[in-house]
Amino acid sequence: GVAYVNGDFVPLSEAKVSVLDRGFLFGDGIYEVAAVLGGRLIDNEAHLARLERSLKEAALATPVPFAEIPKLQRELIARNALAEGLVYLQVTRGAAPRDFAFPKDAAPTLVMFVQEKNLLCSPAAEAGVAVKTVPDLRWARRDIKSVSLLAQVFAKQEAAAGGCQEAWMTDPAGMVTEGASSSAFIVTKADKIVTRPNSREILPGCTRKAVAALAERCSLEVEERAFSVAEALAAEEAFITSATAFVLPVVSIDGVKIGAGVPGERTRRLREIYIEFAL
Ligand code: PDD
Repeated sequence: GVAYVNGDFVPLSEAKVSVLDRGFLFGDGIYEVAAVLGGRLIDNEAHLARLERSLKEAALATPVPFAEIPKLQRELIARNALAEGLVYLQVTRGAAPRDFAFPKDAAPTLVMFVQEKNLLCSPAAEAGVAVKTVPDLRWARRDIKSVSLLAQVFAKQEAAAGGCQEAWMTDPAGMVTEGASSSAFIVTKADKIVTRPNSREILPGCTRKAVAALAERCSLEVEERAFSVAEALAAEEAFITSATAFVLPVVSIDGVKIGAGVPGERTRRLREIYIEFAL
């Protein structure tokens, strides 16, 4: 594959940044992941808007004019002849002698690569996802899509060790914040889809936003409020959303079946409608 590193398209195996890069040393960087279907970026305007916001909150600039970024993404897709998968993009504060405060004259680093992945025909869409709950160990600015992901790495590892595909992180009150790399939803008897409102406690998911806007077409009402693990265990259906997962049914939480323990009907319809929107 071909990657983009600071102005150059290079073979992925030769794509390198300095060991002094602040992304490497401090996790001092921002990232985005956008899906690709049929060689086209999905909902990329939303991802670019969130990237711009994350960069601003982190007082970071891109080394190229921001308007160049979608052009670079598209060129990378073309150079890789990528049909289905994702584009990963990362901006860091660049390489500088190790010192915590912002360096005076470091140039930011911009890196992009692609990954081929079956998004439409995913086994998880058929079988559903098993979720494990874990305490949310993250910092107080979860709305910034930062590359400092150690808490999510721990959460996913704990899930994987328990035979689960996703972790739902919980606050000290036992309320679900979100998935380790996805937004979390439950479906209630009253045809409501419940998800935590945007705040500094969660990442404002692009797919979450798109799905919320499409819910009406499935005769589902969106209720933005926090929900507990106990409420999720008793829910009719549950699901996650992310750029690469789209909408995936959750069939168990901590080993307890959700609904009948198979993907729910309303979740299926939401996935179909989201894919229609994406195509
Ligand atoms: N993760 N919450 C967290 C903590 C996430 O990391 C993600 C995305 C989401 C969903 O956001 P969106 O719908 O905009 O993808 C929610 C990406 C896919 C990742 O880290 O790979």
